[in-house]
Amino acid sequence: MTAVTTVATTPFAGQKPGTSGLRKKVAVFAQPHYLENFVQAVFDSIGAVAGKTLVVGGDGRYHNRTAIQVILKMAAANGFARVMVGRGGILSTPAASCVIRKYQTFGGIILSASHNPGGPTEDFGIKYNIPAGGPAPEAITEAIFARSQVIDRYRILEAGNLDLDRLGTARLGEMTVEVFDPVADYAALMESLFDFAAIRAAFQAGFRMKFDAMHAVTGPYAVEILERRLGATPGTVMNGVPLEDFGGGHPDPNLVHAHDLVEALTGEGAPDFGAASDGDGDRNMVLGRDFYVTPSDSLAVLAANATLCPGYAKGLKGIARSMPTSAAPDRVAAKLGIPAWETPTGWKFFGTLLDAGKATLCGEESFGTGSDHVREKDGLWAVLMWLNVLAGRKQSVADIVTAHWREFGRNVYSRHDYEGIDSAAADGLMEHLRGLDLKGKSLDGYTVAFNDDFAYTDPVDGSVSVRQGIRVVFEDGSRIVFRLSGTGTEGATLRVYIERYEPDPAKHGLDPQAALADLIKIARDLAGIEARTGRAEPTVIT
Ligand code: G1P
Ligand code: ZN
Repeated sequence: MTAVTTVATTPFAGQKPGTSGLRKKVAVFAQPHYLENFVQAVFDSIGAVAGKTLVVGGDGRYHNRTAIQVILKMAAANGFARVMVGRGGILSTPAASCVIRKYQTFGGIILSASHNPGGPTEDFGIKYNIPAGGPAPEAITEAIFARSQVIDRYRILEAGNLDLDRLGTARLGEMTVEVFDPVADYAALMESLFDFAAIRAAFQAGFRMKFDAMHAVTGPYAVEILERRLGATPGTVMNGVPLEDFGGGHPDPNLVHAHDLVEALTGEGAPDFGAASDGDGDRNMVLGRDFYVTPSDSLAVLAANATLCPGYAKGLKGIARSMPTSAAPDRVAAKLGIPAWETPTGWKFFGTLLDAGKATLCGEESFGTGSDHVREKDGLWAVLMWLNVLAGRKQSVADIVTAHWREFGRNVYSRHDYEGIDSAAADGLMEHLRGLDLKGKSLDGYTVAFNDDFAYTDPVDGSVSVRQGIRVVFEDGSRIVFRLSGTGTEGATLRVYIERYEPDPAKHGLDPQAALADLIKIARDLAGIEARTGRAEPTVIT
């Protein structure tokens, strides 16, 4: 027996989606009505859902399966005709975007807290992606939040749980649930974009790599694509089994958290190429033997070499980057004679540019790279594009990047994060910076060209986003950016982005922390970081 019930409820404060959906501790999501309220707020805010198809899946973290069962019953009670759910509740974020687009569904719900740790005491998250496949734009997330603040009932089907592990279709009330293979459509899309034959030949000729799936969602995708389809040696994929707590790790592909990979790529005899992805598969870190590629440089190098890949052989329409990302990609765009776009932080701002055909590649300094093939950043896609470029150029990662710097100059870059600081202190610091008028002033010998709080007008739909980060730009083009994270679940995280352009190849080999030392000091002094937050040093440097 199945019956639709309308359950009375009251709003929860703070159901406000951040940079990428609603993220909270598992205990918050597990409260009675909490998830249900938010899901109903989504269904109430996205237009008529009756008769439509929805995609549902997540990164496999703790609470994923429980949440999916609730969402299925609510989708049925709200009139959806069909829900497509990844087997085992698994769907990487880029694969979800791929499936939403391919089957032209009425969007999807993705359950993930991305790179944040998972487990009963850790983080959970939920977001709605629109029919174009990308994260809901601010107009929709704000409508969802507004709805969540007045919600007084939700609809749910009284029914047993469905088996999510068996492929095929089942009924839930009037609705069809289709459990599908979460890898197949995505793998086919990758095969259509890249020269798999050339990459396979490189592996056959002895090219070696390691991919660290960090016990997160990309394990099954990487094993299928890298080992089965491309013939990489079995064992190329490390930590390939998705676990609900990511093996106790922090599934964030950076030099600190992907330490297994960093170690594997160090020293003589190390593989030629290393890469890692995050909890939900949208981030990537790329390494050569003893060589780290910053995400900003990665985007620039991929853009400069894109035509080696069949899917991009016709060239790029434009390159988009988030404001705090280095200007390295802009230099490539200038050379190619195509537009370079600068957007606020967060993938949702790339959607309109991609839809309008104004950009083909886009990326963020936070280990995000992607293209118009889906509307999310895509970790494995970036890895495959690198493999295609490496197979085409037959050079090492280090040689390709240093040659790139010689041609374009190097945008020396680093990000310093101060995690878990007091929220009031963080707000105070930002207010202080916002109030400064620095134009024309000299800071330790660097003259300020201008300072502002970045505001963006979307060139396609005209929507305006303000207060997107404090920029202090110097006359020599160097730059310091300050912003607060919009994805954290505890206290505040201050991010400081530091950049300097170095045209001289003789200085390209310098350690970025040394090359940026003056600017790092200016940033700390200007914001009064230690005095305001009690932190003398950042928590994470990337
Ligand atoms: C962070 C990154 C941002 C990225 C987002 C989602 O957001 O900085 O570039 O789009 O995660 O992966 P933040 O915590 O800085 O708001
Ligand atoms: Zn992610």
